[in-house]
Amino acid sequence: MYKQPLLEQIQLGDLTLKNRVVMAPMTRSRADNPENVPTEIHVKYYTQRASAGLIISEGSQVSKKAVGYINTPGIYSVAQVEGWKKVTKAVHDEGGKIFIQLWHVGRISHSDFHNGDLPHAPSAINPQAKAYTPKGFKDTETPKEMSMEEIHQTILDFKNAAKNAWEAGFDGVEIHSSNGYLLHQFFSRTSNVRIDEYGGSIENRARILFDIIDAIKEVMPENRIGLRLNPSLHGVFGMTMDEESIPTFDYIIEKLNNYNLSYLHLSEPFTDVSELAFAEPNIAQRYRPMYKGTIIINSAFDQKSGNEVVLEGLADAVAYGKPYISNPDLVERFANNAELAEWDQDTFYVPGEKGYTDYPSMKKEKAV
Ligand SMILES: Cc1cc2nc3c(=O)[nH]c(=O)nc-3n(C[C@H](O)[C@H](O)[C@H](O)COP(=O)(O)O)c2cc1C
Repeated sequence: MYKQPLLEQIQLGDLTLKNRVVMAPMTRSRADNPENVPTEIHVKYYTQRASAGLIISEGSQVSKKAVGYINTPGIYSVAQVEGWKKVTKAVHDEGGKIFIQLWHVGRISHSDFHNGDLPHAPSAINPQAKAYTPKGFKDTETPKEMSMEEIHQTILDFKNAAKNAWEAGFDGVEIHSSNGYLLHQFFSRTSNVRIDEYGGSIENRARILFDIIDAIKEVMPENRIGLRLNPSLHGVFGMTMDEESIPTFDYIIEKLNNYNLSYLHLSEPFTDVSELAFAEPNIAQRYRPMYKGTIIINSAFDQKSGNEVVLEGLADAVAYGKPYISNPDLVERFANNAELAEWDQDTFYVPGEKGYTDYPSMKKEKAV
């Protein structure tokens, strides 16, 4: 009988995942309290989804300066660690595994978050995007170019956040080096025009990521560190590709082979890049042969295409985003070939349980 590849176990370093269905990291803006502490509804939300092989939490800011969206949880204060402990314990009690996504938004922020000070970024270049502030969507500003000291502090902030995550009981961390946020801003020539060791050459633009991995390795096992890349992101979150974009990701991914990481989480392009000469439209196909470790692939997969990509050997596991918002029991639905519920975009980022913890599990008799 056909066993769906997505439902096979997989080994992530020393962790055994019960299936290859991963919940993608998703900001849900429910930490609506002054210190951005995860609350009881976070516990409920993640526990409802504990049948995933792995949950990757929403992006969680590594410091006060790292924030850029309202009501996103942090992982830098004692109260936040205490809040997360309840989440990890509840997920573990349900037999699940959970990593936290460590996030610094860089220039995709606004001075409203920083008492009037400008957001930090590799260079003083406005992404011409929107920031989701406490006063609604606002145009982004020209950020402050980070000093060397601020870069070193940011590396320490990631390290400290990883240490906190480990203490909070997470099974691992995912470094958010994707989607146009701080680390991606360092990688790109259009957002990084520095002339010191963090800018200029491809090697220099990629340096901060490896500094962060090396720092985190000091506080938790290397095989519990994952990271996320979106090599063909173009025209979204202020990112513009150029002819050095893909060579930069080639360099990064080749170099990641020197590490024994938990996984590399890749996104297929978020937009149609088939007409863009310097973009790579087939991310898994390009990077599967290049990367020796475990690959989680994401973006716009359904049950069929997810099973296919694993069967073809192009990825080891598949991360589902929006389907996980509206289908807490996505794994059971796949196992039963059941219909999926539609998500409601209007409740992605609003406070409270509506559109968060009130999506029902399928009825048992729905099994085919
Ligand atoms: C509401 C929402 C919030 C998201 N927040 C994050 C985030 O915090 N970190 C991140 O890396 N990606 C984030 N993403 C992107 C998703 O992880 C995923 O890449 C995207 O939804 C595409 O996958 P899908 O087609 O399965 O939804 C978010 C997506 C959505 C819909």
